Amino acid sequence: MENKKPMLVVSTGAGISAESGIKTFRDADGLWENYPVMDVASADGFRRNPELVHQFYNERRKALLEAQPNEAHRILAELEKDFDVWVITQNVDDLHERAGSTRVLHLHGELMKIRAVDDPDYIETLDIEHLETTPATRGKNGKPMRPHIVFFQEAVPNIEPAIELAHRADIFAVIGTSLQVYPAAALMEYVRPGVPVYYIDPRPASTAGRGNVKVIPEPATKGLATLRDILLKGKKG
Ligand code: OAD
Repeated sequence: MENKKPMLVVSTGAGISAESGIKTFRDADGLWENYPVMDVASADGFRRNPELVHQFYNERRKALLEAQPNEAHRILAELEKDFDVWVITQNVDDLHERAGSTRVLHLHGELMKIRAVDDPDYIETLDIEHLETTPATRGKNGKPMRPHIVFFQEAVPNIEPAIELAHRADIFAVIGTSLQVYPAAALMEYVRPGVPVYYIDPRPASTAGRGNVKVIPEPATKGLATLRDILLKGKKG
């Protein structure tokens, strides 16, 4: 009988898509250096100037269309052969899915989807030919729609299943995030005692007070190749 695969839960941030050419938020020349975050990514900002918010996400969609998954996304998809892999991502891009990962939980929404302004559960996927939205965009049911993005000042609906996954993990990895945005940044604190936690990031944030975290200070592509070797060696015993 085949042994049950160990459960590998991976929490990813903007850094995993950096090598695909998608800008991160807080690095030098990151998005928040060029756009006031509270104007384009907060509930208040959307109320004040919805036009600007639609325009910001139209630009993000255009950049995403030109991007391809990188080796880090691909390694995570391939690890499904040996591990029960669950990806929890703060990213709104679809590069994990395009690389072949089959279980991806988006914490902060999805760029290629829109939702009703008055109903977070009414979601539609954009047609690839019509990726631009404006405050005049209506859903198939006639409702005004907005980007399917969790704005600052809004609750994170998928955090409960994410915490549950972190708690069930046999191995936990965090990749390419500055650990500044909560509740996502706290996920590593829900792992069970004794579960190994790895953190891949070329400029890792401090992990003081977060338990025993093994830091791999490398870009995602190189760091994931390193982690894959560690995990596969560990599996062979
Ligand atoms: P940040 O921009 O805050 O952090 C990016 C992290 O990626 C940093 O720690 C970098 O060192 C790291 N990094 C850069 N290049 C890398 C590479 N090649 N490989 C691996 N890591 C690399 O992005 P997040 O932590 O993801 O939310 O930001 C969290 C949230 O803040 C985002 O989801 C977004 C933003 O506001 C919303 O907009 C709702």
